[in-house]
Amino acid sequence: MQTIYYDLRDTKGQQKEIEEKISAAAKILREGGLVAIPTETVYGLGANGLDAKAVRRIFEAKGRPQDNPLILHVTGPQWLPRYCRDIPPMAYVLARKFWPGPLTMILKRRDVVPDETTAGLDTVGVRCPNHPVTLAIIREAGVPIAAPSANTSGRPSCTTAQSVMEDMSDKIEGVVDGGPCAVGVESTILDLTCDPPRLLRPGGLPVEALEQLIGPIAVDKAVTGVLPEGEKPRAPGMKYRHYAPKAPVTVVTGAPEASAREIQRRVGPGSGVICFDEYAGLFSEQVVHSLGPSADKQIQAQRVFDALRTFDGSPVTEIYAQCPDSRGLGLAVGNRLKKAAGFHIIEADSLRIILGITGCTGAGKTSALEAIRDLGGTIIDCDAVYHEMLDENQELRNAINASFPGVFGADGRLDRKKLGQEVFAKKDRLARLNGIVFRFLIPEIERRVENTGDGLYAIDAINLLESGLDRLCDRTIAVTAPVELRVRRIMARDNITEQYARLRISAQRPDEYYRSKCDCELGNSLESPEEFREEARKFFVRLLETIKEEKRHGAR
Ligand code: TXA
Ligand code: MG
Repeated sequence: MQTIYYDLRDTKGQQKEIEEKISAAAKILREGGLVAIPTETVYGLGANGLDAKAVRRIFEAKGRPQDNPLILHVTGPQWLPRYCRDIPPMAYVLARKFWPGPLTMILKRRDVVPDETTAGLDTVGVRCPNHPVTLAIIREAGVPIAAPSANTSGRPSCTTAQSVMEDMSDKIEGVVDGGPCAVGVESTILDLTCDPPRLLRPGGLPVEALEQLIGPIAVDKAVTGVLPEGEKPRAPGMKYRHYAPKAPVTVVTGAPEASAREIQRRVGPGSGVICFDEYAGLFSEQVVHSLGPSADKQIQAQRVFDALRTFDGSPVTEIYAQCPDSRGLGLAVGNRLKKAAGFHIIEADSLRIILGITGCTGAGKTSALEAIRDLGGTIIDCDAVYHEMLDENQELRNAINASFPGVFGADGRLDRKKLGQEVFAKKDRLARLNGIVFRFLIPEIERRVENTGDGLYAIDAINLLESGLDRLCDRTIAVTAPVELRVRRIMARDNITEQYARLRISAQRPDEYYRSKCDCELGNSLESPEEFREEARKFFVRLLETIKEEKRHGAR
């Protein structure tokens, strides 16, 4: 099928020619064809919303899952009673104020609307788009136009007719070019069949504007995160991975300076970056698409889909994106970026937070540290630092050698086993060794912490409390677990006998010691390390919130 391109970018041109093109598009729609139409939000892929057969073709052209309903586009509130019933007065209040515009209302549907359009739901989404060309087409077609965004399912939405041609050419009868979309993100979807009304999708109309008119609105869970397995979203479309470029996306939230620096720390030469204009200069080795000035969310909304789409043309292996705060249009822009990232989000902050993690062997320290890494934290592994220093720091080597002669071999390397034997079960010798190690290690860790920027850090040290490194920490956390569980874990992990596992545990301090000395405890009685890692992640998210609150208010 050859797709006809109708250029209607300049509606001030030849009146007759414009009217002819509008009539041609309306005729195709009336006769069951598909035409992509411009709206102020994104381009829509239109069909007669009352014609089940035509609507089915939309799903085919987009490759859209069958259970994802479509929005009916109408010319004004006077059309509402034709397709909806039990319409609350609030719907008219909203329509009078915000239509034509980026607001979709979910209302009870009438039977004239086919199941194909609503995906079998007893509700229907209705909106009046703010674009003169499309309003003229709908008026002339005389039917409500069902129109999802005109992209291939799963790809970023289209904000220009060129993007539509990329995805849809030869699959549909026509594309009407009405210029680039002024808003750039899809409509805000508000469910009016419940009380209070519920935001199903943040969009081109900020929630604040809605709340000012009608009072508090509930925000659906699917707006801010991934729904738990098995839970059904109220807007079926919110469950799909969406807007996604081919390379994986990571969103970095936080103050713009902090998120830019965080991204800078993470990128390599093959990375792509979506950033605010002010920070583009930091990424000279990366493929950059700028989102607009950090203070101008309207421009960010206009550019967000294009930025995501354009990466598919360049060979980037990963994409990092800065994210605006969630006020005003920022909620919609951030939501599109986060959905593109499958809600893979790193929180950068202009604060430095240092956590000290300690506890016995087998308690789950490693999983806890992985959870901190999942949150974008950097781990300072004291054991690794100690080993680096053993290779490089002559003073430390001399000090050890003076107290434990013969532990350095002829090749100059420390014989760890020998040193271990020297101090095993000998309290005074162990104390002497620790005294030496801590004297060198602490200033080194302090230096590393001081030289880093803002962000989240975790100090991983068995001897966190004994060494005095706990002084550097905003919070110390004891990871604890029942002895029997620890025995089983270290037997499996280190492939040792039960007897030896018990010996190792009894050589260490008990949980009670860590519990009493640390600021907080992260208990681990879960069998699966993955489950514990997830539980730990939630624990740290809450803890970080508390610490940030304190820091902002100067407590502690
Ligand atoms: O700005 C827009 O709304 C654009 C332009 C073309 O108007 N359209 C658009 O349509 O974004 P689409 O199909 O890409 O997204 C519609 C969203 C989907 O998430 C769908 O699940 C939800 O609206 N939706 C549609 N009808 C619904 C209903 N009855 N109940 C709940 N959610 C509904
Ligand atoms: Mg869509």
